[in-house]
Amino acid sequence: MYSEKVMDHFSNPRNVGEIENPSGVGTVGNAKCGDIMRMYLDVDDDQVIQDVKFKTFGCGAAIATSSMATELVKGKTVQDALQVTNKAVMEALDGLPPVKVHCSLLAEQAIHAALWDYAQKNSIEIKGLEAPVHDIEEIVEEE
Ligand code: FES
Repeated sequence: MYSEKVMDHFSNPRNVGEIENPSGVGTVGNAKCGDIMRMYLDVDDDQVIQDVKFKTFGCGAAIATSSMATELVKGKTVQDALQVTNKAVMEALDGLPPVKVHCSLLAEQAIHAALWDYAQKNSIEIKGLEAPVHDIEEIVEEE
């Protein structure tokens, strides 16, 4: 059911943790399954993502997709990080079962939320980036 890459990133997730004083942080959640994902970015003066960490309270696929997403955005500019879509994450993991596609969406949304936070703090515009749709407070309250 799961590819070897998914199993690898689930059992040995990369970039787990927090960044102190992050350049941007984003937390998103899925109200249906209750899974929550938080991404921290460390961005340098050239707008290159030097470091990225995540914390995921969620299913195995959510952990594997967050791990892969951090690997894919590391070293990219904040603009290029937008190309790390849920599709890109899924492809890099050699696919996910259909019921787990929303988990990869959470990874994309977490990156976007962290990028949005970074852009707001630095008054810059990342072309094509939209404000995060999920407000984590709402998700927590809904439950
Ligand atoms: Fe919801 Fe995986 S089951 S994020």
